[in-house]
Amino acid sequence: MSESSFIGHSIDIAAALLRKGEAVAIPTETVYGLGANALNVSAVAKIFQIKQRPTFDPLIIHLPSFHKVIDYVEDIPEKLSLLAEKFTPGPLTILLKKKDIIPDMVTSGSPYVAVRIPAHPITKTLLENLDFPLAAPSANPFGYISPTTAQHVADQLGNKIFYILDGGPCDVGLESTIVGVNEHNEIEVFRKGGLSIENISAVVGKVIIRDISNSNPEAPGMLTSHYAPKVPMILGDIRTLSATSDPLRTGIIAFNNFLPVISSKHQIVLTPSGNFQEAAKNLFAGMRYLDGCDIDVIYAELMPETNLGIAINDRLRRAAVK
Ligand code: TXA
Ligand code: MG
Repeated sequence: MSESSFIGHSIDIAAALLRKGEAVAIPTETVYGLGANALNVSAVAKIFQIKQRPTFDPLIIHLPSFHKVIDYVEDIPEKLSLLAEKFTPGPLTILLKKKDIIPDMVTSGSPYVAVRIPAHPITKTLLENLDFPLAAPSANPFGYISPTTAQHVADQLGNKIFYILDGGPCDVGLESTIVGVNEHNEIEVFRKGGLSIENISAVVGKVIIRDISNSNPEAPGMLTSHYAPKVPMILGDIRTLSATSDPLRTGIIAFNNFLPVISSKHQIVLTPSGNFQEAAKNLFAGMRYLDGCDIDVIYAELMPETNLGIAINDRLRRAAVK
């Protein structure tokens, strides 16, 4: 098998491997996932093994449409149902009380399962062809930057999986926003992501943000050090930070402006036109690109704290050295 032959466009090959209990990388509009049959414990175990992911970190299940959700969960609180109607398929994950058919390994023992309806047309067709949901975390080694192209997956997990279903670069570029309801029937946001808080609030009013970043996170995607490149990344005013560093060995992640003193091949300007969607789409690929450059440090600036800037800043803070 040549090195790249496992990247392909065949939904049939992906489906056949998944039916056999293998793990397959799949495209979604947020990031690439590492999918496996969510109802098959040994298939799910492969995901944890391939990603080197701790088993206390639960997985999201993926379904082709919201109508299917009720086969796997006990009930759907009205506010979550409203959000699902409005924003699925799309970058939203909802936490619901699971039925017994969902193995405890998927939820790491929690009575709640995270459910998502991805918008990517290839994965929608794939899911329609399967008679089980796919458990799928982001297809990266645990703690590293999430992949937004098939090649990103191949670069890190290529020798551990049989097939990467190529759906092109991800449109959203940030993982889904995770929400649940609490005992007071309020919407809580467990992970900021590709669906903005403003969009959610427009439908259900005020939401509670659970900014969990300590030692016992309820959503381990919220661990303080996550999404991190290997080259140390420092947040702040990029102009000041780079004033004293070697311009040839410095990487920059900027929101919309280019910094002339730094070598242009080490600079990622996320969105020259100041568009948050574009910035989100470019963020992880930019971090990965700089991580592959021969540099000593990456300086990054925070985005305006609004719209998708909120989730982008969350990822930048988690990727930065403390
Ligand atoms: O956009 C996405 O959500 C991508 C694509 C592939 O769908 N998936 C993704 O999965 O980001 P992952 O595993 O990298 O992050 C899922 C996060 C984890 O931090 C996990 O802790 C949280 O969701 N999560 C999953 N199930 C949960 C549960 N039952 N209760 C609380 N948090 C849960
Ligand atoms: Mg992840």
